[in-house]
Order: sequence, then structure tokens, then C-alpha cells
Amino acid sequence: MSASRLDPSIFRQLGKDIFWRINDGSESNGSLTACGRSGRQCDAQRHSRRLDRTHDATLRSHWRDMALTQDLLVLETDRFAVRPAGHIRTSAIFTLIESTADSIQLSKFGPKGSWAVVTGASDGIGKEYALQLARKGYNILLVSRTQSKLDALATEINRMCGVHTKTLAMDFAANNDSDYSQLAQLVSDLDISILINNVGLSHSIPVPFAETPEQEMKDIITINCTGTLRVTQLVVPSMIRRKRGLILTMASFGGILPTPLLATYSGSKAFLQQWSSALSSELAPHNIHVQLVQSYLVTSAMSKIRRSSVMVPTPKAFVKAALGKIGRSGGAQGVAATSTPYWAHGVMHWAIANLTPGPMNRYVIDVNRSMHEGIRQRALRKAGREGKKGS
Ligand SMILES: NC(=O)c1ccc[n+]([C@@H]2O[C@H](COP(=O)([O-])OP(=O)(O)OC[C@H]3O[C@@H](n4cnc5c(N)ncnc54)[C@H](OP(=O)(O)O)[C@@H]3O)[C@@H](O)[C@H]2O)c1
Repeated sequence: MSASRLDPSIFRQLGKDIFWRINDGSESNGSLTACGRSGRQCDAQRHSRRLDRTHDATLRSHWRDMALTQDLLVLETDRFAVRPAGHIRTSAIFTLIESTADSIQLSKFGPKGSWAVVTGASDGIGKEYALQLARKGYNILLVSRTQSKLDALATEINRMCGVHTKTLAMDFAANNDSDYSQLAQLVSDLDISILINNVGLSHSIPVPFAETPEQEMKDIITINCTGTLRVTQLVVPSMIRRKRGLILTMASFGGILPTPLLATYSGSKAFLQQWSSALSSELAPHNIHVQLVQSYLVTSAMSKIRRSSVMVPTPKAFVKAALGKIGRSGGAQGVAATSTPYWAHGVMHWAIANLTPGPMNRYVIDVNRSMHEGIRQRALRKAGREGKKGS
């Protein structure tokens, strides 16, 4: 088969799964030709040997190149018709069995005793990132709004983990240059290996865009977008100098699915997706790993959900999954430098991408709107009841 017959349209990528149809009937055997985990040269060679018998040199070299960089290759021929159901089954199986064994170890980004910066560190998911990183031996710079909460957490970390902490209380919504100068000063003295861009704000309840209070709208953009960019810009230069680092940024399913009645929050998280994926490519040559962390609901003050369930993990379970899946996509199949690390969220992300007409589909967005209209009605009724009790 000649190279010209390799039509790029026959390649389809779902995360780390490549689906590859060969437009040459003579090559096909009508079944899955080869399938397996690779990423290791021996696997690539094993698969290549298998292919040597049936395919030409160009195809083999494509296969080797891809096998060396991908976790999983699925080769199909055009006699084995490309059936969406077949793709879905295969992809689902490999998404679900994806092991954490190949995750990048945190030590690759910096030794124990180097520093992690966590924003929004005093509560919820950020607090858990701080605790779990401290338990792994990293010193922690805690950045958040309320000094008393930061002090309490710093004491807890010092007592439990024996690592050093520093704190900075700043209000990201204020976007004060003096706060960022203080942060720059702190950061300049530290060997920072890890940055967790966690600070975030959502709407207090789902609200039509036209009725969104101006302050809420501004705060969401200033905290979620401007804050994340400014902190990252302070930390990145020293990571580039040291030629190592990890930058995790908390995203949200609101950034995958346009979410009516949370439109500003949804847009801010979609911004982080684009920014983070672009940044990951810029910083990869500097040996800095940038990963967006996707999440559906987690129990916290922001979600206002107290009881965990299969779909709504505790911050502890969520962060354990996130730190255990560095370099893995989880359910974020096909999205560069992105992970949906918690297993149930991963299945949901995969299902949205593969079993619905797609997150940008009008019907899907309208279903999401109905859901959030319901949530708004319940939130308004609850506020009414609480108002009556208070009066
Ligand atoms: N929880 C979820 O269901 C969920 C789902 C998807 C994505 N996420 C994302 O995960 C991240 C963390 O969410 P979470 O649920 O853990 O939130 P959370 O429980 O509300 O905690 C937010 C943290 O950010 C701090 N913070 C809030 N506004 C701040 C400001 N203006 N300046 C400085 N610090 C501020 C808070 O400090 P104080 O303690 O001083 O208030 C707190 O430490 C966010 O980016 C969020 O969008 C959450």
C-alpha cells in the first residue's frame, strides 16, 4: 500500500485510542488486527512484528511512531466496517480499565522538600490538595482569602506532616497589584515544583445572564480567569529556569457543557480549558507538565452538597484521584493535556462525548438549561423558606 493511500480522514482519535481504517481491502482480515497497550518500545516492536507480515513499510513506520507515543492502538481495516458501536465499546473498555500504574510520579516535578503553591487552599478541594501534597513531603504555600482559615490549616499541616508552610491571604476578586507583588516576593525565594490553580467562584445560585449581578459576573471572571493567569505567570519563569514543574488547573464540567443559568461560570471554565491546553504545548519543551483537571460535582461549600455519593465524591477522594492520574486522561478522551480523574466523572465525561450528540449540540444545551431552571426554582424556594424562618 502506498503512502498516498493513507488518507488522514481514516484516523480518528478518542483520547489515547487511535482508530485507523486502511483503505485497502487486500490488507484487511475483517477483524481487529491488533490491539494492546503500548507506550513502551517492546510493545511497539511486538505489534510491528505482527504487522510486518501484512503491511507495507510506510504503514509500519506510522504504526511504530504512534505506538511509541500512544497508550493504545486499535487497528481496523475497511472490511471491518467502522461502526460507532464498535468504537464506543472498545474505547469504553480501555477507559474503564485505564490503570494508574503509568501516571507520572510527583517526584518527577521536584523532590520532597521543594514547594507546592495552592490557591483557594483554605477550604474544599484546595484544602485537600494542600493536605495530600504535604503528606507526600512537599512544603506548601497556601494562598486564599481568609487568614484565620489559612493559619488553622498551616498549623494542621505542620503538626501532621512536619513540612514547612507559608501563607498569603489575598482576595483574588480585588485583583490588587500589591497582593501579586507580595506573592511574587514569596515565590522568588522558593523552589516551586507544583502549582495548583484551584481558586474559583461560581454563581451563588443558577441565574439568567440578564439578571446576574454585575459584581458576581466581574468576580467570577477576575478570580477564575485573571487570578489563574496572574499566579501562573509569577510561577512559570522559575519552573522554566529549573526545567521542571507541574501546573494543575481546576476546571469544571460547566466548561465542557455550555451551561445556561451559569453562563459566566461556564464561559470562565471553558476559557481555562483553551488556555491550559495551549500552555501545555508551550511549556512541554521546558519539561513542565500542564494539566487541566475536569470535575463534575464534589462535596464542598461551592456545590452546597454535603453528602457524598457515587457521582459526588468528597474532596479527599477527588484529589486522591487527581494526584494519582498525572499524565493520564481518565475520562477526558481526546482532549489534550486534560484529565477527568475521578472514575465516575470520567465515565460521565466519556458518555457526554460519545453517547450524546455532543456537548455543543443545541438539544444537549437545552436539556442542561431545563436542569438548571429546576435547580434555580428549588434554590429560590429554599431561600424563601429560610427568609420566612428568619423574619
Ligand atoms: N465543588 C464542586 O462541585 C466543583 C466542581 C467542579 C469544579 N470545581 C472547581 O474546584 C475549585 C475549588 O472548588 P471548591 O468546591 O473546593 O470551592 P470552595 O469549597 O468554595 O472553596 C473555595 C476556596 O477558594 C477560596 N476563595 C474563594 N474566593 C476567593 C477570593 N476571592 N480570594 C481568595 N480566595 C478565595 C476560598 O477561601 P475562603 O475559605 O476564605 O472563602 C476557599 O479556600 C474551583 O475552581 C471550582 O470551580 C468545584
